[in-house]
Amino acid sequence: MSHGVRPERRPVDEAESLRANRADWDAYADEYQSTHGDFLGDTGFLWGPEGVREDDVHALGEVAGRCVLEIGSGAGQCSRWVLARGGRPVGLDVSMRQLQHSRRIDLEHDLRVPVVCAGAAGLPFGDGCFDVVFSAFGALQFVADADALVTDIARVLRPGGRFAFSVTHPTRWMFPDDPDEEGLTASQSYWDRTPYVEVDDETGETRYVEHHRTIGDWVHALSVNGFRLLEILEPEWPADHDRTWGGWSRVRGVLTPGTAVFVADLG
Ligand SMILES: C[S@@+](CC[C@H](N)C(=O)[O-])C[C@H]1O[C@@H](n2cnc3c(N)ncnc32)[C@H](O)[C@@H]1O
Repeated sequence: MSHGVRPERRPVDEAESLRANRADWDAYADEYQSTHGDFLGDTGFLWGPEGVREDDVHALGEVAGRCVLEIGSGAGQCSRWVLARGGRPVGLDVSMRQLQHSRRIDLEHDLRVPVVCAGAAGLPFGDGCFDVVFSAFGALQFVADADALVTDIARVLRPGGRFAFSVTHPTRWMFPDDPDEEGLTASQSYWDRTPYVEVDDETGETRYVEHHRTIGDWVHALSVNGFRLLEILEPEWPADHDRTWGGWSRVRGVLTPGTAVFVADLG
């Protein structure tokens, strides 16, 4: 029997975040792919619900011939885009069901993106293995210790390597996650980093966890780990785009940024 959930705000550690989000993504994967798969495209690379394409922003730089790690790769759409441009991608995702969708799409296209089923906290790769690491709304906002993850990403990148990631624009934390007018009134502090948690209202189990960092937190995590910040992209809502995705909609998108893409390289 499926239960309802109630939202809470409280500290959550890495183990609890991993356990809850793995189960949540395993349960949600089929719906996620059937709802968003066409929009994402089997070999497409979108940075977020606004539909900004890597083909247009070139956040990764050159990928041909490069070893590229995608963190939170889901069904591998972005990694397949890397493969199609001559790169050597590896996808990492905590959800086996998401990775089964990745394999399904690979088979439909006679392609193969190697994948690893693991949580992002503690990357199972050697030092300096990758030229590029990226995450398109992947694990960055689902781990408890983002600073440690950025340190680990610096470890697996070669000197001069590129790191780009998209997350919910940090300013959205102030607003209810509602695509309509209700989602336009600030109701909590931008600076309150207490995680958002969904709890099963019958069993009390933690079902979903999202962590928040301010823009300053992200910039700090990058700079203390030796990254040089190249850009923060804040995609505007396109004039011809009417697709609602969760809390992302035209109503909010024309007024407030919904996505931030951080682009950095190792000095
Ligand atoms: C919003 S989806 C994005 C997937 C893909 N990049 C896309 O654009 O469809 C977030 C992905 O991150 C994965 N994920 C969540 N927490 C994770 C963690 N701690 N470590 C690795 N992957 C995680 C989920 O399983 C899911 O596939």
